[in-house]
Amino acid sequence: MSSADDQKRASGETAAQLVENGMVVGLGTGSTAAWFVKALAARKLTDIKGVPTSDATAALARELGIPLVALDDVKTIDLTVDGADEIGPGLSLIKGGGAALLREKLVWEASTRCVAIADAAKRVPALGKFPLPIEVVRFGHVHTGHRLADIAAEFDLPPPRLRTAERGVVVTDGGNLIYDMASGRIDEPAALATALKSVTGVVDHGLFLDLADEALVGTDEGVVRLVP
Ligand code: A5P
Repeated sequence: MSSADDQKRASGETAAQLVENGMVVGLGTGSTAAWFVKALAARKLTDIKGVPTSDATAALARELGIPLVALDDVKTIDLTVDGADEIGPGLSLIKGGGAALLREKLVWEASTRCVAIADAAKRVPALGKFPLPIEVVRFGHVHTGHRLADIAAEFDLPPPRLRTAERGVVVTDGGNLIYDMASGRIDEPAALATALKSVTGVVDHGLFLDLADEALVGTDEGVVRLVP
């Protein structure tokens, strides 16, 4: 049986083969996306530009010699490859476990083609086992958290919790905070997405719906390609 890391690596390496010279490539965030970035650097393509989705990915790409460009300095991105926390029906995704969901979604939305890469355990029959990350502005975040709790109750979900780590409250690259909604099961992801976006303090959330064009999932039998 292959390990999750083997599967992540295989999916990242397969995705790296999709890149061609001349492309602007969105570089995802997380451990699977890191395998993609490493495999891409190893191809030594001479004419590609990367748009990183986090400071961490920018640092890795720079270290490996991938030329970077800012999102605002390109018209479109040809291909974005990024990890996922969950891959549900129709390639609906939960992302943001690494707190990079905002830049990730901005890059995905600017891309012609988006490919999710993951290990097999990320595939789920319904989204929600992985807590849904919600990025909120710092100002008044406790009040925003109350509004999120009201929305959660409407959807029969428990109140979201402010994300903390060893060093205290987690702050995103954009200076915002993350609330995680540990739901168990999200029956109406589109309705939940709309409700969350209606809260003024919410910058964005980790539901990536109708954004992935395909997924490359590492399994014991090799990398499987999924389409919506
Ligand atoms: C980063 O914020 C996330 O969206 C990651 O892409 C996601 O958490 C997957 O991470 P791994 O590839 O490390 O599992």
